[in-house]
Amino acid sequence: MNWIAIGNIDDIPLRGARCVKTPQGKIAVFRTGENEIFALEDHCPHRGGPVSEGIVHGAAMTCPLHNWVISLQSGKAVGADEGAVKTITLRKDNGALFIALESFMVAAE
Ligand code: FES
Repeated sequence: MNWIAIGNIDDIPLRGARCVKTPQGKIAVFRTGENEIFALEDHCPHRGGPVSEGIVHGAAMTCPLHNWVISLQSGKAVGADEGAVKTITLRKDNGALFIALESFMVAAE
């Protein structure tokens, strides 16, 4: 597994997100109010909106463009909408965050 460091959990506010640029594209990293961390491709399944600018609530986020709700765990649209954003494998090590670049490359195929 090809892990790349993307900073520390404290770099992301509670119920917030940040965008990480990688050679394979932008990745949105989310921190929930429960201190869980999730990573998704920063590309909404609806029309490609920047999900890293969405609003985090529970273990989901709402896209800033047309309000689709996306599960942070599965990347799937919740409710009546259909579609999914690719999830990225993430590891937390004493607060330091790493994403698995290989999984992103596979998922991007
Ligand atoms: S681009 Fe995200 S809801 Fe439309």
